[in-house]
Amino acid sequence: ALRRGNSASSSAHLLRRGFSSESAPERKVAVLGAAGGIGQPLALLMKLNPLVSKLALYDIAGTPGVAADVSHINTRSEVAGYMGEEQLGQALEGCDIVVIPAGVPRKPGMTRDDLFNINAGIVKSLCTAIAKYCPHAIVNMISNPVNSTVPIAAEVFKKAGTYDEKKLFGVTTLDVVRAKTFYAGKAKVPVGGVDVPVVGGHAGITILPLFSQATPKANNLSDEDITALTKRTQDGGTEVVEAKAGKGSATLSMAYAGAVFADACLKGLNGVQDVVECSFVQSSITELPFFASKVRLGKNGVEEVLGLGPLSDYEKQGLESLKPELKSSIEKGIKFVNQS
Ligand code: NAI
Repeated sequence: ALRRGNSASSSAHLLRRGFSSESAPERKVAVLGAAGGIGQPLALLMKLNPLVSKLALYDIAGTPGVAADVSHINTRSEVAGYMGEEQLGQALEGCDIVVIPAGVPRKPGMTRDDLFNINAGIVKSLCTAIAKYCPHAIVNMISNPVNSTVPIAAEVFKKAGTYDEKKLFGVTTLDVVRAKTFYAGKAKVPVGGVDVPVVGGHAGITILPLFSQATPKANNLSDEDITALTKRTQDGGTEVVEAKAGKGSATLSMAYAGAVFADACLKGLNGVQDVVECSFVQSSITELPFFASKVRLGKNGVEEVLGLGPLSDYEKQGLESLKPELKSSIEKGIKFVNQS
């Protein structure tokens, strides 16, 4: 437990740890799609986060039960459930962070892009409400296809006059989580200390893990190993979709990844230094308008979009081959908003 006090060492300790629940500022987080496969375990994990003071759980159905259940957990945040469009405004009002796992997941044989028609409409309507009720909130977009739903959100916010590119994030953390796990397994190093940047986008070959920058360095991996690790990271979602055999896509690992990313955003908002996560954001590090890379998080959201760093020849090739697909997914999102 942390002591209250002003000594240099205790404040340094607080900064390093984040904040104790007594000293952390008030922060309201909303989960939209909170009764779903991702939404429920994500609600649980956000309830466990001491940086959250208010947790709003919104869905078109089922949230009273989820909220009642989660609210019994004896942690800091006050939990409330909101159901149906007429309660969306209340759920969003005063939010610091809105996490969006609303939408339909993949079934075997589907790509993330097959979800476009349904999820694009859901994301558009939720973002319209965000622009109205909490225009300054940080948005963590989980709904797929992220390569298109993030540009959709940006266009909706631009039309509403509320767009702040520093506050819109496509959540690609699950790709990082997978890359770390698979790398640790192959390199036989303890997974807790592993870091692997993943750049590009969040679908198939647009997911580009940079194993040449992985730490700790593993000298026991061949080119074939790196190719296999790259493919497994790119196909990680499909691995789960097939194993679930028609019952949806990754939910538990996604909830974990979503909770890690939201926690990083909260720490950034609270002024913790050097919070860096990969995310799909507005970017000028390539010629594409949105790109996933390491991002430093701060009090206003994106503090700095970090560059790609040195790439291996294999990664350089991967980067060039992902660009056309990523470009067309981004354009598809932009077009969706400007046509409808
Ligand atoms: P699910 O079907 O279990 O849950 C989705 C929830 O969204 C349902 O409770 C549904 O009622 C709700 N919903 C639908 N329309 C809504 C609206 N207009 N407002 C609020 N809520 C609404 O699906 P699951 O497995 O939780 O996946 C959700 C999304 O997350 C999918 O688009 C999926 O592809 C995506 N996903 C993203 C990942 C990533 O790495 N970014 C990884 C895994 C899934």
